[in-house]
Amino acid sequence: MATNILQTWFPTTKSPVVMCPPMFMSVNGILAAEVTKAGGLGFVAGAWDFTPGNPTLADLDEQLSVARAILAIPDSDTLPVGVGFLTFDPSVVDFAVTGLPILRKHKPAAIWLFVPQPDSTTHRDIISVIRAASDKSWSPKVFVQVGNVAAAREALEDGADGLVAQGVDAGGHQWAQGSSVISLVPEIKALTREKKYRDRDIAIVAAGGISHGSSVVAALALGADGVGMGTRFLVAEEASSKLSARDAIIQSTDGGASTVKSLLHDHIEDRYIFPGPFDGRALVGPSILDERDGVTLAENQGRLKAAVSAGDTSRDVVWAGTGVGLINEVLPAAEILDRTRAEALESLQLLQAFA
Ligand SMILES: Cc1cc2nc3c(=O)[nH]c(=O)nc-3n(C[C@H](O)[C@H](O)[C@H](O)COP(=O)(O)O)c2cc1C
Repeated sequence: MATNILQTWFPTTKSPVVMCPPMFMSVNGILAAEVTKAGGLGFVAGAWDFTPGNPTLADLDEQLSVARAILAIPDSDTLPVGVGFLTFDPSVVDFAVTGLPILRKHKPAAIWLFVPQPDSTTHRDIISVIRAASDKSWSPKVFVQVGNVAAAREALEDGADGLVAQGVDAGGHQWAQGSSVISLVPEIKALTREKKYRDRDIAIVAAGGISHGSSVVAALALGADGVGMGTRFLVAEEASSKLSARDAIIQSTDGGASTVKSLLHDHIEDRYIFPGPFDGRALVGPSILDERDGVTLAENQGRLKAAVSAGDTSRDVVWAGTGVGLINEVLPAAEILDRTRAEALESLQLLQAFA
């Protein structure tokens, strides 16, 4: 009988529970399903533009059908994969009209929300729409990714079931100011024990820089119920990440030095859609080095455009966490999970010496 809250919620998962977070352009229905099939929990990257007719909505519909076919789950049953939504775009007001019908059709077991519009009730509204649509046949758990304790408190007030504690080692977008999971997870754990929340079933998932089973054990020791490994699954065989990005991640070592948190990763592509308190971590590439040498943003953007036109991928932004140095090969998702579990076991056995 499972006692881990995530295993209770998601009975197909094995211990330790490892999630593949939703990652745009990388996590498709195949990867999400294969992660689930191997005892993890895969999240398909869903829409971020909820305007009726937006192609990301049709793609989400398609990817969930793919996942269901791979897992051979009857249409009437909950699909044991999750869906992640980015929620910063003003079109999120259309969620009930465009996003929800896809969820009702496919019945994913979990929803993952990230980046509400500042000073808004975005997540509260989405969660209440999902709860209102839930019934005995479909009642998904809702996770909110948070980078600090204030955001965790807000997510709990909004009605989240689970908190993804995202530390600053994470690849991709994140709070510009934050801490690593080493202090974030215990402080969020303490929050969930406050009188106001202690009678609620709340799961904590640690994410950020976790690419090895020993880091999984560390996260569990900090108080997490499971982990998310993003960068590790970017280089899974089934991922739709660009081949050049996978190569760059595999060749990178020493993640603290070879990755950097910066706004430039967005600005270099002329992208200003993420709200102010967010930046992102990616590999240190030519654009970052040029910025350090004093090259202006306009000139730097021009260099990227010229490279893209010439089919040169060396200036591409490669989002990645500090765990890159622990990732050395492309493997099927199932193999990544098997190895992670074996590493975790080995790490636990080493710890027994301290018991
Ligand atoms: C390429 C890439 C894309 C990502 N896209 C999303 C996304 O669409 N939604 C989201 O909630 N998080 C996204 N993230 C962040 C992950 O949810 C997670 O916090 C992160 O991958 C954990 O750190 P790690 O990469 O070091 O394992 C992305 C991360 C990466 C590396």
